[in-house]
Amino acid sequence: MRVGVLVSGTGTILQALLDEKLPIVLVLADRPCRGLEIAAEAGVTPVLLDRQDFGGFGSGFDRVGYSRAVTAALLDAGIDLVVMAGFGTVLAESVHEAYPMRILNTHPALLPAFPGWHAVEEALAAGVDVTGCTVHYATLEMDAGPVIAQEAVPVRPGDDAGSLHERIKEVERRIYPETIQRVLAELEPRQEKEAG
Ligand code: GRF
Repeated sequence: MRVGVLVSGTGTILQALLDEKLPIVLVLADRPCRGLEIAAEAGVTPVLLDRQDFGGFGSGFDRVGYSRAVTAALLDAGIDLVVMAGFGTVLAESVHEAYPMRILNTHPALLPAFPGWHAVEEALAAGVDVTGCTVHYATLEMDAGPVIAQEAVPVRPGDDAGSLHERIKEVERRIYPETIQRVLAELEPRQEKEAG
């Protein structure tokens, strides 16, 4: 099985996936970021498919064209399972058509609570005692696909978004690799059957 990881940021979740020796053969980023350096250090092919070449981050962004390019890169590399680890672009249909129920995401809240980019800040602002993280299948609608694993993280008095997000990420670095292993173990026999 060949795993492709999509990143945009500091790549600490990616590092945890590499530490667990998941079969990662490609790391693709939508912008220059530390995640690409982490991939290179681990001997995994880093691919920068820069959004700037597809209209950047404003209203001129060619989401469909960009998604097609991501899909082509994943297919070219023979990727079986796509894993998003802090990826900052919502991808259009093409990738979901090529990888139905084969794209995973980790989100720093207990979905369906607090979907979107500001999950940690919104949980704090809502005054909840408990938030957490969710591993789920990514579908066309952001942060709405079927949940595979969740774990609660208590909000502590005095928490700010930074301290709370870091405690959530500690849990993500543990449950995301475990969950990916489980999904890979379920996919493997199906793959062999299809090939045979
Ligand atoms: C994680 O909290 C993930 O849930 C969110 O982005 C964060 C990525 O963290 N989508 P890092 O860049 O791997 O440290």
